[in-house]
Amino acid sequence: MSTIEIKDVWQIYNDRVVLEKLNLNIEEGSFVSIVGPSGCGKTTLLRMLMSEEIPSKGGITLDGAPLSHEPTQERGVVFQRYSVFPHLTVLGNVLLPLELKESRWLGKLLGPRRYDAKAEARQMLEHVGLRGASEQYPAQLSGGMQQRLALAQALMAKPRVLLLDEPFSALDPGTRADIHVLTKRLWEETRMTIVMVTHDISEAFRLGTRVIVLERPTPDNPAKGARITHDIPVHPRAKDKKGAA
Ligand SMILES: Nc1ncnc2c1ncn2[C@@H]1O[C@H](COP(=O)(O)OP(=O)(O)O)[C@@H](O)[C@H]1O
Ligand SMILES: [Mg+2]
Repeated sequence: MSTIEIKDVWQIYNDRVVLEKLNLNIEEGSFVSIVGPSGCGKTTLLRMLMSEEIPSKGGITLDGAPLSHEPTQERGVVFQRYSVFPHLTVLGNVLLPLELKESRWLGKLLGPRRYDAKAEARQMLEHVGLRGASEQYPAQLSGGMQQRLALAQALMAKPRVLLLDEPFSALDPGTRADIHVLTKRLWEETRMTIVMVTHDISEAFRLGTRVIVLERPTPDNPAKGARITHDIPVHPRAKDKKGAA
């Protein structure tokens, strides 16, 4: 079943075609990597999936219904940097999605609900390897820890779809390898759908169940904007492999 359907989507800024006629069905529970040169429109595509940008033409549905016009908690996002709030502690950052979910206008939980939420937040921090850092501020963390925190924060809202925009590209190779393992584990545990933009091809293949290539016009691709030029199946998710064995 497709979770996300992108149908004939164009994005045009002041007569400049950035993305042209994208068609893509994203299966529930898949991990789709999107690669392409800088400036080809990868972030623009993720922004449309977040409802931070509306397609100039075409439409996007989530579970068959048009995307809402505003970001919602069913779609989480992690950027390369600055996905978390610098003025909140690590624990405060992970608590925030729960606070917003329960009390949108107050942004705070009181009494026993706050106690439960804190327990849940601490468990999530343990899960991503940040147990000892709960009272620190993001600026005190290494880059790898900040991205673990960003993942933890996004997951607290229990999104159906997680959107990752070059989330690991500022990390050194060793840290990146560790966070790949974590990301894969979180994906397998939650069964959520992930769409990850990266310009690291090996990362795209290591993590994705499918790799989509976006490319700007070339002699082979005489379009005005970037289009999908390759759609490469990589490997099924672990449960499918077991089923097939
Ligand atoms: N809001 C906007 N208004 C005008 N142009 C934009 C806007 N957002 C992105 N662009 C342009 O669209 C192109 C694709 O940008 P982007 O999606 O950020 O590329 P990528 O993430 O692949 O590097 C760039 O040329 C960028 O300048
Ligand atoms: Mg980008």
